[in-house]
Amino acid sequence: MVIPAVIAHGGAGPGPARQDNLQVAIKKAAEILIAGGSALDAAVQACVMLENDPVFNAGTGSVMRTDGSVLTDASIQTGDGKIGFVIAMEKTPNPILVAADLLDEEINGLTSEGARIWADNRGHTKKKVIGVSPKGQIGDSEKEITGDTVGVIARDRTGMIVVATSTGGCSFRPPGRVGDVPLPGSGFWAEEGLAVAATGIGEAITRALLSNKVYEKIKDKTYSLEESMNWGINTLISPEHSVGLIALGPSGPGLGVSNTDMPWATWEQESTE
Ligand code: GLY
Repeated sequence: MVIPAVIAHGGAGPGPARQDNLQVAIKKAAEILIAGGSALDAAVQACVMLENDPVFNAGTGSVMRTDGSVLTDASIQTGDGKIGFVIAMEKTPNPILVAADLLDEEINGLTSEGARIWADNRGHTKKKVIGVSPKGQIGDSEKEITGDTVGVIARDRTGMIVVATSTGGCSFRPPGRVGDVPLPGSGFWAEEGLAVAATGIGEAITRALLSNKVYEKIKDKTYSLEESMNWGINTLISPEHSVGLIALGPSGPGLGVSNTDMPWATWEQESTE
């Protein structure tokens, strides 16, 4: 039996302390995994908890776009090759549930109004998200750009690994802008018992195809998990962009690495052998 584990992060970049809030999601995932639940359920339920906590830039706490709108993105990928992602959804406090609902569909991703119509047909909650005004949005010279996100990677006793990410996007970005979170290989990548998720300025992450590149580096086994993640942040990302990564492999706990403040936490079930 594979030992279950989970890792989660609460976003890279300036923001309030979020470590305690993160533990609530870790606990939820751990309870599901201890009870023999799936990595899919653990990752999704933990991500929902983070989306429901307004301290995080995801779901309920999403930052506003430059026009004051609140649009949410989410993505999910399983180690056996399924993907679901949604982009720029209005009135959707839990986009991860819509993304997860796509996993067994012929299509992988949906965007904007079409995504919301599809979610309506599936009975997903439709509720106005008030959102958070980013610091300095209205004429403030102290314009602090944050692209924080939430992310969870869970591994269950069958060895299945699942990565789930969610965000309100980057502050000071227009309504049509697409960040890294819903783009496979950029904000997330999972395959064969190993998964990586990114957070931070989406444009920098997307240009680097960061999650996939770091996944390949870890998979190559030339470097350790930590060395591979540091390589990704230090080599593929310019230091002026706040970026962080989490990763979880087929054994052991997960690891978080960042070039800025990034709350992260990991849990692995105690072995009974
Ligand atoms: N990392 C979130 C975004 O840039 O949209």
